[in-house]
Amino acid sequence: MSTSADLLTTTERLHNFSAGPGALPTEVMLELRDELPVYRDLGSSIMEVSHRSAAYTEINERVVARMKRLLGLGDEWHVVFLQGGASMQFHQVALNFLPEGGVADYLNTGSWSTKAIKEAKIVARGRNAFANVAASSEEAGFTYIPDPSTWELSPQAAYLHYTSNNTIYGTEFHYEPEAEVPLVCDASSNFLSHPIETHRYGLIYAGAQKNIGPAGATAVLIREDFLQRRHEGLPTMLDYGTHTAKLFNTPPVYAVYIIEKVLAWIENHGGLAGMAARNDDKASALYGAIDATEFYRGTARPDSRSKMNVTFRLPSEDLEAQFVAEAKGEGLLALKGYRTVGGVRASIYNAVSMESVQALIDFMRHFEAARG
Ligand SMILES: Cc1ncc(COP(=O)(O)O)c(C=O)c1O
Repeated sequence: MSTSADLLTTTERLHNFSAGPGALPTEVMLELRDELPVYRDLGSSIMEVSHRSAAYTEINERVVARMKRLLGLGDEWHVVFLQGGASMQFHQVALNFLPEGGVADYLNTGSWSTKAIKEAKIVARGRNAFANVAASSEEAGFTYIPDPSTWELSPQAAYLHYTSNNTIYGTEFHYEPEAEVPLVCDASSNFLSHPIETHRYGLIYAGAQKNIGPAGATAVLIREDFLQRRHEGLPTMLDYGTHTAKLFNTPPVYAVYIIEKVLAWIENHGGLAGMAARNDDKASALYGAIDATEFYRGTARPDSRSKMNVTFRLPSEDLEAQFVAEAKGEGLLALKGYRTVGGVRASIYNAVSMESVQALIDFMRHFEAARG
């Protein structure tokens, strides 16, 4: 008779291309299983104990240390895990860092950037300040990253906000913006997928549920000198200083516990350089398959293609629907494009293996041979 522990075998896990919450490493899943319902000598699971217990304190210290090691962050950086999703950060960033009568620059490269700009404008209105859209690719359906030569940056900006990977449209910055002012980055969908030059940033945030863990926690990295520029008199929970000073309230403990394991997995797989090599291989194989035929058509401009979310079309919407449904039948999950843009989207985050990408490529070839 199979026990519940037998049910989570690696062979039962299908190829998961979900855009988020997305695939996490199977090794991590197995560890989670092994640590339920009892964590080490606690006599309970980790989700049932105080966030001030020695066991959780140790996990929190480990996750912060791993994050700093992976990104090469010094003591001047704070690492906190907040709730409210990346969407909360859209507002919180502006609330903390858009000064009275000041300006912040935004690059508009997709729906998430648009939402971040909307929140910044709400804050700006009450402060006689300005959220400046320095560049946008909206006129072309967000299919590319605007060239830096076209950006209209404000010399006095408090920060330059950008979305490093556009989950819906399948575009990604392949460089880090050059600016005289600190960068603020929504890195939700390519966080820890490759090394970055952290000294250029004041703040980086990422919803955990794509590359680093389950939904429920948002990683926020803040540099101390940038933190010191924040607005005064903010609501306690929305003031970053509340969370960098100490563990103010109950954090999303189980999510953070899982993130700690995912970061360990990244460290054990070559760190960010290892992730970059792995992600390069997967993306070039998949784009290679798209470009090899007229049947599939990539939607992002080639120089702006995302290595995390690969978006493409087939000759008709009918064929796209059949593709997604038949792929599911073959164990290739969650390939439907975002509800407002359609098409096919394969999200190939860190944890998605080359084996899964190869299975998708094989399916694409068979599908084209049968329907092309
Ligand atoms: C780039 C990006 N930013 C922000 C969000 C919103 O994140 P959340 O649902 O955690 O608020 C998403 C969600 O998919 C995203 O992909």
